[in-house]
Amino acid sequence: MKLLIKNIKKLVQVEEEPRVWVAGADMAKLPCIDNAFLLIEDEKIIDFGSMNDISRIDNLDDADVLTELDATGRMVFPSYCDSHTHLVYAGSREIEYTDKIKGLSYEEIAKRGGGILNSAKLLHETSEDDLYEQSLERINEIIALGTGAVEIKSGYGLTVEDEIKMLRVVKRLRETTPIIIKSTFLGAHAVPAEYKGRQSEYVDLIINEMIPMVAAEELADYVDVFCDKGFFTVEETDRILMAAMKYGMRPKIHANELDYSGGIQVGVKYNALSVDHLEFTGDDEIKTLLNSETMPTLLPGAAFFLGMIDPPARKMIDSGLPLAMASDFNPGSSPSGDMKFVMSLGCIKMKLLPEEVINATTINTAYAMGVQEEVGSIARGKYANVYITKDIPSYEYMPYAYGSDLVDTVILKGKIIE
Ligand code: NIG
Ligand code: FE
Repeated sequence: MKLLIKNIKKLVQVEEEPRVWVAGADMAKLPCIDNAFLLIEDEKIIDFGSMNDISRIDNLDDADVLTELDATGRMVFPSYCDSHTHLVYAGSREIEYTDKIKGLSYEEIAKRGGGILNSAKLLHETSEDDLYEQSLERINEIIALGTGAVEIKSGYGLTVEDEIKMLRVVKRLRETTPIIIKSTFLGAHAVPAEYKGRQSEYVDLIINEMIPMVAAEELADYVDVFCDKGFFTVEETDRILMAAMKYGMRPKIHANELDYSGGIQVGVKYNALSVDHLEFTGDDEIKTLLNSETMPTLLPGAAFFLGMIDPPARKMIDSGLPLAMASDFNPGSSPSGDMKFVMSLGCIKMKLLPEEVINATTINTAYAMGVQEEVGSIARGKYANVYITKDIPSYEYMPYAYGSDLVDTVILKGKIIE
């Protein structure tokens, strides 16, 4: 089965030689082909090039079922990879949104037993089937917005049973939807109310019971810890990462959102795939990251929604670092999985160029969730996870028109998604 997209105004983020990630000055480069074609066979991209060279694929086998799409006036992008979400959750938290408008901080709400613990209570009261249905709606929403790969964390369970319940839902979503999904165990998201004042005992529960059970059911690719002021310490993070890595779960860390927490350093120490948030990133943190294989990942939706300071994104790129940007889709600090809006925030709030935010939401987030060999760019042999835009004047128009839905057709693993 072949699918040929012809007369593409601009084919964006093409790679002849796939790269692992894009860093520093290279982040401002975006390889594209004008007036292009893209040829897909079954689930994969098999060829692309200029329409002037389309004769080289004229010998398409007659026996092949060939679908042709004409993309005149429209562009083709690789799907977004959203490398950090918490999109399996129950209900919503707009009451806290009102509290925040009235002046309470994220930490104050958490201290009162709201925040993550509020979501944990709702999740506990929700059946696995209902949780699946609620989460499926969010998956369908992000697919329509152009996302083709997503990482999903646990962390609203906070008991052995409920953490497993969340991760089983993630597994079911992976089996029943066309999007690529990676799962992360985040038992250390908050200390449950029953363990108040006994935080180290909760860490013991994570290490001695949760991690072995999650591993036994093969429910998580990665492990995460909210290593920040008022949540988990560097020492606790150290213990949890060591335990999870014995089961092959590579770390992805919530770090330096609320303070210079040491989260970046402990993440790099354990060769984390990514460290995420990074509002509090200074020269030491940049130096640590420069000598690592860890992808610094910003979550501009959370900083925007909580009205917090932005990370020093410009300085990080100018120091030579790669940067990724993900949505953090969750009910408390970023109730949106709109990666196009994440790009706009990167440009408007962090002074990044359109090319930089496109790299940060495709190839670099693919690395940050371990799928860079499968998706993240238009390259031969990668999955055909792409979207065709509406008629747009330029690729800069994508982050510029921050409220417009510009996705026309979504293709995942070579199939047109209605
Ligand atoms: O990434 N920072 C920690 N966890 C989430 C928020 C979770 C919540 O408030 O429900 C985040 O922002
Ligand atoms: Fe998060």
